[in-house]
Amino acid sequence: MSQGRLLVAIDFGTTTFRALVTEERSDGSLAVVAWGQEPAAGFQDGDFIDLRSGSQCIGRAVRVAETAADVDITGFTYNISGSHLRSVFARGQVQVGPGPRPIKAADIAAVLAKARSLAIPFDHQILAVNPIEYTVDRVGGIVDPSGRIGCQLEVEAHLITGSRSVVRNIENAIGTAGYSGAGGAVDVLASATALLQPPEKNEGVLLIDVGGAATGWALFRNGHIVGNGMVPWGGQHLTADLAHGLRIPMEQAEQIKRRKGVTLRSLVEEISPEILFGDDNPGVTGGLLAAILEPRLEEIFSLVKSDLGDARPLASLGGGLVLTGGGSRCRGSDALAEEVFGVPTQRRYLPPGLHGAARLPDGQWATAVGLSLWVAGAEPAPQTERRAGPPTRGVLGWLRRLIAHRRHGDRRMAAEG
Ligand SMILES: Nc1ncnc2c1ncn2[C@@H]1O[C@H](COP(=O)(O)OP(=O)(O)OP(=O)(O)O)[C@@H](O)[C@H]1O
Ligand SMILES: [Mg+2]
Repeated sequence: MSQGRLLVAIDFGTTTFRALVTEERSDGSLAVVAWGQEPAAGFQDGDFIDLRSGSQCIGRAVRVAETAADVDITGFTYNISGSHLRSVFARGQVQVGPGPRPIKAADIAAVLAKARSLAIPFDHQILAVNPIEYTVDRVGGIVDPSGRIGCQLEVEAHLITGSRSVVRNIENAIGTAGYSGAGGAVDVLASATALLQPPEKNEGVLLIDVGGAATGWALFRNGHIVGNGMVPWGGQHLTADLAHGLRIPMEQAEQIKRRKGVTLRSLVEEISPEILFGDDNPGVTGGLLAAILEPRLEEIFSLVKSDLGDARPLASLGGGLVLTGGGSRCRGSDALAEEVFGVPTQRRYLPPGLHGAARLPDGQWATAVGLSLWVAGAEPAPQTERRAGPPTRGVLGWLRRLIAHRRHGDRRMAAEG
């Protein structure tokens, strides 16, 4: 194995925990080293509701990756998701000096700190601060004010906050599993880091991650996130509808959905209402599957559309819509999204520059890759409250110490006993 820097990330998904070990190449790209995955346990709506089974599940997923990578993992970065996340806009303003002078990095840090001081619920913490635009002496629309001459600096920023208790509980579950949490990043921002290109964010792009029990979205305009949210429906609800409609067990419905699921009726032969609601068994045709799956996915997309609120209209999104997440894998999902949102839609599951991507098993790895890219500093990272010092270096330095390139024999799992 080459001795590039190793990064470890875990995606706590509502259906699956995915641990990923990657190696950072000299050009900043990542190569897959190893992975481990486990059906999620003790985890609901972004929180560990059963510490024991949740931490055991973390241990199992990480140990598979550890063994395959032949490294000793002691900590990793992780995603933060769930309905506790809130998206808010904040403004900050600082006086740079009595007279005009070039704006320095310290001024930018100070104005962002002002924006962060916005009153947030006492039980929440700021998880991400993303500047939308700066204003210097009442001249707005400035992307980077460094070096610009002025007296007064203002910023408009998009903040994501999350429950302090949930974040602490995630770290507790990681600790109970015998590891250290090396900082968390908002789930949908991690996926966006992996899947969206800067030009798309400049032109405007909507990312929708249809997961297991939830669907997250993030909207970017002029290179910045301008909104995000989630609705509590996902791929599991499509499976449940299929199980109910075909009167079969969930596992069988899941298999049928993955093998031949289609979510747009116009792609398959229409099935007549008499057959649909009659007593005869029509067999599991494409038309029947689409008749069951399309309304549910259409409902999920419509809920996302109304959750977008002020972030609409979408007609100006030059980068279109990018669909990801296991719940968007059925044939026709992109065409259906196009009908609902009225913008060109693509499905995307992995970043093109990921080396060794073919080694990953089927599944949604974009979030874990995005978390790794975030740590690697491939693009400006969402800043979390936990971080001290320069954004990526602090986390990286810590991670470097956390990962030993030799295995120290078998140890841990407090939670296993
Ligand atoms: N090939 C496939 N075809 C259709 N559906 C699929 C396929 N693969 C996975 N799914 C569905 O994707 C859903 C899980 O998606 P994903 O793995 O993105 O969720 P997650 O990351 O665990 O959850 P979340 O992102 O909501 O926290 C499940 O409902 C599953 O049925
Ligand atoms: Mg997910």
